Amino acid sequence: MARMTSSARPLLNRRLAEFGTTIFAEMSALAVRTGAINLGQGFPDTDGPEQVREAAVRALRDGRGNQYPPGPGVPELRTAIADHQRRRYGLEFDPDTEVLVTAGATEAIAASLLALVEPGDEVVALEPYYDSYAASIALAGGTRVPVTLRPHEGSFRLDLDELRDAITPRTRLLLINTPHNPTGTVLTRAELTAVAELAVERDLLVVTDEVYEHLTYDDAEHVPLATLPGMRGRTVTIGSSGKTFSFTGWKVGWVTAAPELVAAVRSAKQFLTYVSAGPFQYAVAEALALPDSYFEEFRASMTAKRDLLAAGLTDAGFTVFRPQGTYFITTDIRPLGFDDGFAFCRALPERCGVVAIPNAVFYDDRTAGAPFVRFAFCKRDEVLSDAVTRLKA
Ligand SMILES: Cc1ncc(COP(=O)(O)O)c(C=O)c1O
Repeated sequence: MARMTSSARPLLNRRLAEFGTTIFAEMSALAVRTGAINLGQGFPDTDGPEQVREAAVRALRDGRGNQYPPGPGVPELRTAIADHQRRRYGLEFDPDTEVLVTAGATEAIAASLLALVEPGDEVVALEPYYDSYAASIALAGGTRVPVTLRPHEGSFRLDLDELRDAITPRTRLLLINTPHNPTGTVLTRAELTAVAELAVERDLLVVTDEVYEHLTYDDAEHVPLATLPGMRGRTVTIGSSGKTFSFTGWKVGWVTAAPELVAAVRSAKQFLTYVSAGPFQYAVAEALALPDSYFEEFRASMTAKRDLLAAGLTDAGFTVFRPQGTYFITTDIRPLGFDDGFAFCRALPERCGVVAIPNAVFYDDRTAGAPFVRFAFCKRDEVLSDAVTRLKA
């Protein structure tokens, strides 16, 4: 094919050069080709509540949201988000100035970083990190500074001294994620209090990705950073309907923050998608008003799935980091005689018909992530049981 340009310059913007095709595309294609069970990408294999789906159909039929909705999001959804934050966490947000609806949490992350980060700014992020963080920091021209969560007594923990040491005069913001993908760690109130104290002391902004806020297990408690002293005015909190209501394809997310932070993020968001998902916004407004029983049942069902897959992986010989939150179980493959998660995951579909994700893709320090492999458990019980049988074989 003829070259698109006569210059020797690569086509892809150099800020994106290090980000090839995501591992999820490669592994999902492998799953299709081999007929393997896909425990790679984190999406449920059943849809969320029927009444929420019906609410979307009703909105479509009634012509609500079929044309460009308001830039910040439809008022019904902004109000529902503010009500949710008040009801669950005692946080007060003005739906008109302190809530912004986005095209999923992914756009909220991108818009927040594009709005708040300048070239030369450093962004301290927990490693392993959700893959869009690195790309969004790069698009903003920022420099990512990873602070690695390390295995300690069965879970991955944040070393607060390492976090403190990572902060320099160039640090602009902390990018936090709790409950944490891929490790399943839920940062404790004490850990988050220390993070908050550091943010206040060093006068940093904080962007906190809390999309798994409703997926915490056992006695783990989700503590929104914005509830901690000194944080309400400096924190951009990101949420999403995808995980909480099992409609990951709808891409309805949101930001809650102080008015000037929301205004900044909105400035970037308006040139990314302008607006998104009109009818789904009305449906998500209804979903957020579901009774507590919905959230409790969802958590109970996900706890059972976690237990099923964790037991199966343990029986199959993996070391399991039992997650306190999210959809994911991180395992260590070394007890099975392997230490390279990439090679392991590339061979796993052929060997036993299951797809998983090598955690190394979530690390700058690939060797730190090499022996870890992530499995998603947001699947039907029979699918998880089948996967477990295959893994044991
Ligand atoms: C930590 C984290 N943040 C954000 C997202 C993306 O959310 P959304 O689908 O709402 O864009 C995901 C999806 O897997 C995630 O795991």
